[in-house]
Amino acid sequence: MNWKETIQAIERSVKDKFSGEATGHDWHHIDRVRRNALIIAEKEGGDLIITELAALLHDIDDHKFNGGDWEAGTRKAKQILEEHHVPEQASIHICQIIGKVSFKGANVLSVPDSIEGKSVQDADRLDAIGAIGIARAFAYGGNKNRMIYDPDEEVVLHQSREAYFNAGSHTINHFYEKLLLLKDTMNTPTGKQMAASRHAFMEQFLKQFYDEWDTK
Ligand code: ADP
Ligand code: NI
Repeated sequence: MNWKETIQAIERSVKDKFSGEATGHDWHHIDRVRRNALIIAEKEGGDLIITELAALLHDIDDHKFNGGDWEAGTRKAKQILEEHHVPEQASIHICQIIGKVSFKGANVLSVPDSIEGKSVQDADRLDAIGAIGIARAFAYGGNKNRMIYDPDEEVVLHQSREAYFNAGSHTINHFYEKLLLLKDTMNTPTGKQMAASRHAFMEQFLKQFYDEWDTK
């Protein structure tokens, strides 16, 4: 098995699928997750091939954009891995990771078992916080026709994945229902360390945002 060629071929098919995506799930998101997942897995001692393939395929079919089918992503990933003759054992592991990676609500636990999965989840979460995370949140909110902020609407934390995904609140609420919670959900010491400055930047952003809102 020539892993380098396999990874390149899978990268090409993922890139084709994601080019031009405007909801924060574009190819560059996948590429940043791949790079950070590899940095984390390398430091934490994970298998880099499994990590890279899982990162490349982690958003291959997002349930938020396909009518709420939770299994579609893993099915699609399995099919792509088969097409590229990835051995079954590796494919099973990669699909397990993909099923666990995504954030499903403030009080819904979904932690991958392996170090490779933990690295990909940490990398995905890093991309949801900091300056890039802020940009992605407002891009997503705009795509879903959501208000930037509504001071009359209280912060909501969700107890189930359905409640979380069906919520329609303003984008500032997304900081409280997800983004500010992520630093404490990082799986690995490396991920935690990388999250710290991004988290601090979001707090600074919110402070400035409210100051401007209140014309201070
Ligand atoms: P993950 O990669 O953890 O699965 P998602 O796919 O849920 O993340 O979300 C993709 C991007 O869109 C992330 O940056 C996320 O924070 C943002 N996003 C998701 N839901 C909302 C929302 N309700 N409001 C604003 N941004 C959102
Ligand atoms: Ni992602």
